[in-house]
Amino acid sequence: MPQSSSPSSTAATGSRERRIVILISGRGSNMQALVEACQREAWPARIAAVIASRPDAGGLAWAAERGIPTDALYHKDFATREAFDAALMARIDQFEPDYVLLAGFMRVLTPGFVGHYSGRLVNIHPSLLPAFPGLHTHAQALATGVRAHGCTVHFVTPVLDHGPIIAQGMVPVLPGDTPERLAERVLDVEHRAFPAAARWLAEGRVSLTLDHRVEVQGDPERLFIWSGA
Ligand code: GRF
Repeated sequence: MPQSSSPSSTAATGSRERRIVILISGRGSNMQALVEACQREAWPARIAAVIASRPDAGGLAWAAERGIPTDALYHKDFATREAFDAALMARIDQFEPDYVLLAGFMRVLTPGFVGHYSGRLVNIHPSLLPAFPGLHTHAQALATGVRAHGCTVHFVTPVLDHGPIIAQGMVPVLPGDTPERLAERVLDVEHRAFPAAARWLAEGRVSLTLDHRVEVQGDPERLFIWSGA
């Protein structure tokens, strides 16, 4: 397995522009929040490509309209998960990314894929991990009766929805919430937490250490976003 550049060597390259590839599976609202924040806040980064796990992903057209290179692979065209991931890796690596951001990318990734991008692969999950990995997180939160819910931006490990945490966004669970209403409130905080984390990655202020801790240069409170009622 080819070894990816370590985060410390990326940080050591100083102020050069980081290249970011974003993976999506659907509407891509998190991808849009990342693209817009990158431009608005003039990150030292470029969104090098948006790649989807299905050709009908709504976010592809939005990205293409903004001049961002797009690509799509359909997972049903591949016999195995390994074959899909190998093809996806080849497409991603054409863009020579420093970071690969999973923005609503609804695929379980193989250990080979995760290892290839070690320290450079970051996911957003709609819960306060380690609570509620997997699907239907908002319904799980309501069923459990938690008073707070939210989202987590984390480095990816081979374990699903698990890994060293970079940023979290928290919202209250309100009386009368349905999974849909709660999801809307969480999505709003996702759109703030993911760009906050990605900006710090782009600035070389967040990295993954060899013993799997997140190292932050700056005020870590900026990576906790509380969205009150
Ligand atoms: C987000 O809630 C994300 O956390 C989850 O799926 C949703 C994708 O939404 N994994 P979008 O495609 O970013 O709009």
